[in-house]
Amino acid sequence: MTGVSIRDLVLEFPAASVRALDGLDLEVAEGSSMAIVGESGSGKSTLASVIGRLQPDSAHIPRGRVLVGEQDVLALSSNDLRVFRRERLAYIAQDPIGSLDPTMRIGRQLQLVLRTIGDDTSTARQTGLLEGMQIAHPERVLRLFPHQISGGMAQRVAIAMAMCRRPRLLIADEPTAALDAQVREEVIRLMFEQARHLGTTILWLSHDLTAVSRWCDEVAVMYAGRVVERGPAGSVFDTPVHPYTRALAHADPSRAARGERLAGIPGTPPLLHGESLGCAFAPRCAFALDECHAIRPEPSSIRHSLCIRTDELVANDREEVSA
Ligand SMILES: Nc1ncnc2c1ncn2[C@@H]1O[C@H](COP(=O)(O)OP(=O)(O)OP(=O)(O)O)[C@@H](O)[C@H]1O
Ligand SMILES: [Mg+2]
Repeated sequence: MTGVSIRDLVLEFPAASVRALDGLDLEVAEGSSMAIVGESGSGKSTLASVIGRLQPDSAHIPRGRVLVGEQDVLALSSNDLRVFRRERLAYIAQDPIGSLDPTMRIGRQLQLVLRTIGDDTSTARQTGLLEGMQIAHPERVLRLFPHQISGGMAQRVAIAMAMCRRPRLLIADEPTAALDAQVREEVIRLMFEQARHLGTTILWLSHDLTAVSRWCDEVAVMYAGRVVERGPAGSVFDTPVHPYTRALAHADPSRAARGERLAGIPGTPPLLHGESLGCAFAPRCAFALDECHAIRPEPSSIRHSLCIRTDELVANDREEVSA
């Protein structure tokens, strides 16, 4: 059974004349973890929002299909959509403190989530949830307001609140970008442990290539609103196929390891105003031919790579290895 299946998804912001998703395809197996990586503006957060049909009202979706399990998300009635969000889906945002209600103590917020799902709302249950996230002195933390706890602690609370609902799909949009290195590692570990325990599918949006290869089953690389390559996390950066992934993998890895924005590829990503006619990466691509600017690439059989030269480039790699 499929976790998430997205076909030819197009999303535009007509007022801004921006095409954020330009015919995106993605498959995520149920219970697996998929990282979405790509430079700023590639459309990661927009994609994440559409999966919960949480895109801004200013967005227009002219075509495409989004399936989560057997649910056709874009076709759900508003009532079914509410049930879907409550029972299937959880989000963890980049800014942990901002994702909590500043006016309410942590305990009260946990209690409300537990009540929504008809779960035990007792203090013991709340304490247990915080303990599950390795939070020391949970009784004390329950009495605090979000501004009184650290970013790392707030993110643990946010994960506890997300996972107590036993979501089928967890979407984490750069959940650790605001945390320092040591806390980041711990928060990621806890998030993955909880998800594996519950069989939750993870979609993790990240700039951190090193962490992604360590934790995720698969990686999808986004560029200008499309997935340009996807495959096993271990292989995608070790033996990249698409020229953009090659450039990412060769860009200074220590920067990515520190969780900074991906950098090191000359030029800047395009801002699409409509459908990309050729390959959106062609202007920055070391392998581009004239026709790359005119032919819109379709997924190849190798890692769904969106490059008309995929077979040729992979054959060259093999020759180099055997030479
Ligand atoms: N509400 C909006 N109105 C107009 N344009 C938008 C809106 N939201 C996003 N965009 C545009 O859509 C494109 C994709 O943005 P998105 O936030 O999805 O990228 P991202 O990959 O998440 O970037 P980052 O790594 O910086 O988080 C960008 O060009 C962005 O400016
Ligand atoms: Mg984003």
